[in-house]
Amino acid sequence: MRAEQEAARGLLPALGPVQLVLLGVGCIIGAGIFVITGSAAAQYAGPAVVISFLLAALACACVGLCYAELAAMSQESGGAYSYTRDALGPLLGWLVGWNLIMEYLGAAAFVAVGWSGYLTALFATLGMPLPHELSAAPLAVKDGALVATGAIINLPAIFIVGLVTFLAVIGVRRSAWANTAVVITKVAVILVVIAVGAFHVNPDQWTPFVPANTGEFGHYGITGVLRAAAVVFIAYIGFDAVATTALEARNPQRDVPIGILGSLVVCTVLYIGMALVLTGIVPYAELNVPHPVALAVERMGPSWVWLESLVSLGAVAGLTSVALVLLLAQPRVFYAMAQHGIMPAIFGKVHKTWRTPHVGTLITGGAAMVLASLFPIDLLAELVSIGTLVAFMAVSASVLVLRRTRPDVPRPFRTPLVPIIPVISILTCAGLMYYLPGDTWARLVIWLALGLIVYFFRRNKAKA
Ligand code: ALA
Repeated sequence: MRAEQEAARGLLPALGPVQLVLLGVGCIIGAGIFVITGSAAAQYAGPAVVISFLLAALACACVGLCYAELAAMSQESGGAYSYTRDALGPLLGWLVGWNLIMEYLGAAAFVAVGWSGYLTALFATLGMPLPHELSAAPLAVKDGALVATGAIINLPAIFIVGLVTFLAVIGVRRSAWANTAVVITKVAVILVVIAVGAFHVNPDQWTPFVPANTGEFGHYGITGVLRAAAVVFIAYIGFDAVATTALEARNPQRDVPIGILGSLVVCTVLYIGMALVLTGIVPYAELNVPHPVALAVERMGPSWVWLESLVSLGAVAGLTSVALVLLLAQPRVFYAMAQHGIMPAIFGKVHKTWRTPHVGTLITGGAAMVLASLFPIDLLAELVSIGTLVAFMAVSASVLVLRRTRPDVPRPFRTPLVPIIPVISILTCAGLMYYLPGDTWARLVIWLALGLIVYFFRRNKAKA
C-alpha cells in the first residue's frame, strides 16, 4: 500500500481533461441509471424524475468542486475521511469515515444487487430463467418495515461481490484502456436504448409530468420530486474519483473542474434521456422492477429481443467495473483509519506479494456480500445516499475551515467562489437529506450511534 501511494505520488502528472471525464463516467454510471431511474419514477416522482436528476447533479457539482480542493492538498489515502479529520478533528473525521463505510460498502452491495437483476434478465431472455428464490432479495421494505419476499438468498449478487473482492485482493487495477472499453460499452448501450426508444415513446405518458401528490409526504408532487432527487443521488457517486486524481492532473486548476463537471454533465444528459424513454414507454407505476431498462426494451416489441439481451449484457459488464472501484475505495479508508490507530492495526496490513490491503478488502467484501444477499436495492440506495450526503456536507465545511486554519498550505486546485460554493453545497446536501424517508433517518441514527460506540471503545483502548 505504501508502495502504491509512493508510486501514485511519483506519477507524472499525465491526465488531461478527456481522460478525467472518461474516468469519471466510468466510475459514475452503474446501477443508478440501470435500476434506480425506474424505481424512483415509480415510487416517488413519475416522469419528473428528470428534475430530480438535475437537482442531484447540482448538489454533486458543488460538492465535487470542494472535494477537488481537499484532494489536491492532501497527500494521504483515505479520501474524505482524511480531509475532514484534518479540518474538523478526530471525532468528526471518524464519523465521516464511518459514513464513508456506509457509502462504499453499501454502494458495492447496491451495484451487486443491480448486477444480479440484469443477469437474471439476461438468463430469462436466453430462455434459461434463474429460480426466483435464489436470485432475489429475501427482504423488502413495506410501509417503513422489513418484510419477507419469499425469496431465500440473492446468489448472483454474492457471486459478483466475491469475484470483485478476489480481483481487489490480488491487486487488479483498471488500466486506462480497460476503463475506456467499459465506458464505451456502457455509454453505447445507453445511447442505443435512448435512440431506439425515442421512436417508441408515447408522449401522453409524460402528462402529468409531476403526478399529483397522494397526500403522503414524498409520494409524487413536489415533495416526491425532492425525495427522488435524494434517492437518485447515488447514481452520481463516483465523481469523487476524479477529485482524488487531482495530483495526477496535468493542469489541476483547469482540468479537475472540467473532469468533475464534464463527467457530471455527460451522466446527467444520459440519465435524463433514459428517464424520458423509460417513462415514455412504460407507465411509470410499472417501473419498480430490478431491470427497468430491459423491461422498456421488451415493451418495444418482439423484434427487439436482441437489444434486450445486449442491454443486460452491457449492464452486467458496466456494473462489474463500478463494483470494483467501490471495493477498492473502502479498504483504503480503513487503511488510513488504521494509520491513525482508530481502526485495528490489521486493517493497515499490506499483503507481501500483492501489495494490497488484503485484510480490509476481505472484510469489506464479506460485509458487502451479506448486505447484497439479503437487502433490496432501494433500501441500499437510500442508505448509501444519506450516509454520503453527511460525508459530503463535512467535506464542504472542511474547505471553509481549512481556508482559515491552514491558509498557507499549497492548493494545486482552489474551489471557485468560496464561500458561496461550499455553502450551497452544504445547504443542498442538507436539503436532500431532509426529503429522505423517515426509516432511512432511523437507520442513519443507529449507524452513527454504533460509530460513536466504536470510537470511544477504540480511544479508551488506545489510552489504556
Ligand atoms: N454511481 C454508481 C451507480 O449508479 C454508484 O451505480
